Amino acid sequence: MTGDQIVIFDTTLRDGEQSPGCSMNTKEKLEVASALVELGVDVIEAGFPIASPGDFEAVHQIAARFGDRSTICALARSLDADIARAKEALASAEKRRIHVFLATSAIHREHKLKMDKQQIIDKAVEAVANAKEFCDDIEFSPEDAARTELDFLCEVVEKTIAAGATTVNIPDTVGYATPSHYFKVIRYLKENVSNIEDAIISTHCHNDLGLAVANSLAAVEAGARQIECTINGLGERAGNAALEEVVMAIRTRADYYNVHTKIQTERLVPTSDLVSSITGMKVQRNKAIVGQNAFAHEAGIHQHGVLQERSTYEIMRPEDVGYVGQNLVLGKHSGRHAFRDRVKELGFELSDDEMQQAFDDFIALADKKKEVYDSDIRALIDSRLTDAPARWKLISFHTSAGSSVPTATVELQCEDEPVVCDAAIGDGPIDAVFWALERVMDMPAKLEEFDVRSVSQGKDALGEVRVAINVLGRKYQGKSVSTDIIEAAANAYLQALNKADAAAGRDAPTGGRDAPTGGRDAPAGEGVE
Ligand code: KIV
Ligand code: ZN
Repeated sequence: MTGDQIVIFDTTLRDGEQSPGCSMNTKEKLEVASALVELGVDVIEAGFPIASPGDFEAVHQIAARFGDRSTICALARSLDADIARAKEALASAEKRRIHVFLATSAIHREHKLKMDKQQIIDKAVEAVANAKEFCDDIEFSPEDAARTELDFLCEVVEKTIAAGATTVNIPDTVGYATPSHYFKVIRYLKENVSNIEDAIISTHCHNDLGLAVANSLAAVEAGARQIECTINGLGERAGNAALEEVVMAIRTRADYYNVHTKIQTERLVPTSDLVSSITGMKVQRNKAIVGQNAFAHEAGIHQHGVLQERSTYEIMRPEDVGYVGQNLVLGKHSGRHAFRDRVKELGFELSDDEMQQAFDDFIALADKKKEVYDSDIRALIDSRLTDAPARWKLISFHTSAGSSVPTATVELQCEDEPVVCDAAIGDGPIDAVFWALERVMDMPAKLEEFDVRSVSQGKDALGEVRVAINVLGRKYQGKSVSTDIIEAAANAYLQALNKADAAAGRDAPTGGRDAPTGGRDAPAGEGVE
């Protein structure tokens, strides 16, 4: 291995999850955490426990399940209540870290915190010392460090290291830095903070100017030894530095950087696919390392060159990042063992019941579809990763569409109650189904997002539908897959309505309603219970 080891700190489950539309439930977070462990990530920032009970629960469960393999980290503001919640969430992790932060730039001091420099130092030192009572591994981040006066930044870093910080992270919170600027900041800290050797310097770069990866690498050149990053570059606004890009740059240019990581690079593409499937954030085709085109040579001259000698036009081998093209999976006779192995390969860690459910779904799909791809299996499993209770089940649906009025009839059952049937009209068959579901559940909703995509190739491909609805000012998401996109849409919408139903805590089904009062404009049909 070349030179020093760079600590890879993954924040997909914290900063990544803050990207609009990327929120994950606890089951989904556990699957991502499991894939990150297999990838060989050193530190997993599992969440911000004080932010919500869901965040707390996810950190708590990830700490219990994976805290003996990777270091599990929880974020906290420099407040006693935040730090207490982080301690509680991490209690069962063998390897644990608390990450405390406080903004230091003049803009944040004056406008957000209304605190002077001394107050910032006192609060940061107090927070680090408090966290240190719980574990030895403490990270401190002076938020907006890249826009903080250098001498003040040095003072904050020096004092927090003296208080016990073992990693000092230098966030470019707003993606303002450029590579040479960020290099100078890190170099300045190395040269001017007397106790800097007692801590690891970390980078945390946002991608607002498209420079997050370049800035992270510049920091490594200046002496940083931890990189904070996310799978597929997810994160606030334009995202964070992409893990797969920093890791492959370090590996491919080991001659230049003279450092290494512990990442199992052949897990990069499977992990990217898993995160993309779970979050619904598609990876652009020409994305470096994990995009569909990353290893596709189109120009004849390139193809010819690669056939003669790969290195003419390839600086990395596709297999080194786990890229295997469109994987044709097992047919329905392949058997349970082969299926189980494939699911593991794809990065999922399922319980026996979940595995049985996944296998049943796979067999049902293999009956309908000639070829089942990895992406199909991923989508099938992913569509079941919900921890929301689902009182209402879709028993059947029927739609009719054409140049006359589209209509839908649905039969739903709530727990052990009798099956309820109702119908509605809409702008199209999917709209009509949505209206009919709302009528049966008596749950007016506003459709805010509707996304449909083909999971794999061919006319018989699985279709995936994701929806976001608004019920009484709260947003609920649903997703489902089927070879029939109307069925997928119905189940996705029903999943979102079920979440709203659970949040409303209604006791018993209230039956059909007369006319929709939700946010959409389409008319309702007659109830036919
Ligand atoms: O971007 C940022 O500054 C952060 C901190 C909490 C580290 O995410
Ligand atoms: Zn950030």
